[in-house]
Amino acid sequence: MIILGIDTSCDDTCISVLEVKNKKFNFISNIISSQVKLHAKYGGVYPFLAKREHQKNLPVVLKKALKQTKLALNKSQGVDYIAVTVGPGLEPCLWQGINFAKDLAEKLKKSLISINHIEAHILANFVGEKSQIPSAKSQLFPAICLVVSGGHTQLILMRGIGKYKLIGETRDDAAGECFDKVARILGLGYPGGPIVAKMATKLKIKNEKLKINLPRPMIYQKNYDFSFSGLKTAVLYKVKSEKPRLRQGYGGQGKAKSEKYKRAMCAEVQQAIIDVLIHKTLRAAKDFRVKSIILGGGVAANDELRKQFRENIKRELPNTRYLIPDTKYCTDNAAMVAVTAHFHQKKATKKIEEIKADANLKI
Ligand code: KG4
Ligand code: ZN
Repeated sequence: MIILGIDTSCDDTCISVLEVKNKKFNFISNIISSQVKLHAKYGGVYPFLAKREHQKNLPVVLKKALKQTKLALNKSQGVDYIAVTVGPGLEPCLWQGINFAKDLAEKLKKSLISINHIEAHILANFVGEKSQIPSAKSQLFPAICLVVSGGHTQLILMRGIGKYKLIGETRDDAAGECFDKVARILGLGYPGGPIVAKMATKLKIKNEKLKINLPRPMIYQKNYDFSFSGLKTAVLYKVKSEKPRLRQGYGGQGKAKSEKYKRAMCAEVQQAIIDVLIHKTLRAAKDFRVKSIILGGGVAANDELRKQFRENIKRELPNTRYLIPDTKYCTDNAAMVAVTAHFHQKKATKKIEEIKADANLKI
């Protein structure tokens, strides 16, 4: 069976072609056309600009994907289903992908499967080259899923594929959004996550006095919610108020001083985010006595987060499995959309007029 997946929920135009054969997923194509350069100028994503880019990119990306798979559009037998992300995401962007998918479905006379982007981030764990299609006997469930992306930070109790309960989420900014905003405050560029992570690894501060201390918002509250907007504000105040300290400390002269300060700030903000995410996820895992902890979303590409989660799970919950997607499948892609569609073939419909974007779609 062959599934063509489409995702345009944010600023990446993604199309993937998945072949399901002998209980294995075989990706014959996975194209991501990133708009990062375009949005970097503005320090964030502008929905209508992103929509216009999707409109331009979609036919090009499809052509590339089909070329790679040696599928011809006129051979309608080539594709069995078309899957498209319908939410959550930026509404104009979602509609662009949906309308493109509808046109394609009509042309090929195929059914459409609508996909929830958050579920796709979770099921990205079954995408990689080595991964197997999970069966009922997989011993993975119940699981606690942490989805950390640019728009969402959610803890989800998963009792099986398609069986989800949202148990907590951010009350304001998402973890990825916090990385992005801090990077903007420090003038580092967009998207912030990978840049902050890189700055943090370059850090070597020997003098403890120069260490920056940021809050760990809501870490000890007995709920599964998060809040990251205060963390970003704390960074803003520190940057403003510590200009005099900047002049004295952090070694080096001029530019080098502020460079070192920025690295110290990046390391601390990254650690503050990691501490809160690990603490709350592990507490949920203990409370619900789960068999696995599953991560997904762009922030899950963070090396330090991946490593510290692994160490903490090993120490505190040694019998719990830890699933994390390959780094390249953490950020937005359509491979995860096609895999999710495989599990929801019953949702396939030819009534394409019923498929609509829902920017706030819940899992
Ligand atoms: O899942 P994603 O690609 O898009 C959304 O669904 O939002 O996530 C994008 C977010 C951005 O905020 C980006 O800064 C963050 O993921 N991100 C990272 C890393 N790579 C991407 N955050 C921390 N460390 C990374 N290595
Ligand atoms: Zn995403």
